[in-house]
Amino acid sequence: MKILVVLAACLAVCLAFDIPRPFKWDESFKVFYEKIDEQHQGLFEAIYQVCRHPEDAEKLKHLDDVIEKHFRDEEKMMEDAKYEEYDEHHKIHADFEAKLDAVHVPVTRDQVKYAKEWLVNHIKGIDFKYKGKL
Ligand SMILES: [Fe+2]
Repeated sequence: MKILVVLAACLAVCLAFDIPRPFKWDESFKVFYEKIDEQHQGLFEAIYQVCRHPEDAEKLKHLDDVIEKHFRDEEKMMEDAKYEEYDEHHKIHADFEAKLDAVHVPVTRDQVKYAKEWLVNHIKGIDFKYKGKL
């Protein structure tokens, strides 16, 4: 049993994507929908700003705002395209929004790290599945 837990942990690490340093969007994150790619760049920037100014409530509010706008726009595109994984994707967005709602200033290093890892893994692991389908 213990070996299975260790194997699962190793697999999770192997499957995780590299976190860019500094935390900036690059072309490896392209989903090839202009609006979404632009919004994703804005999410990277918003998280980066919270990372730089963890005590600044306006930066955190901006992150909340751009996340909400982006998720709604992306969900609308998935709905319009009758994307088959819409329900699952919507739930993943809702879970992240609930986590973000619980974050207040000063934002902790762990919270920033979580947001960075979540965004990178979400785009490359989840959003990439809709490439060419919307
Ligand atoms: Fe998404």
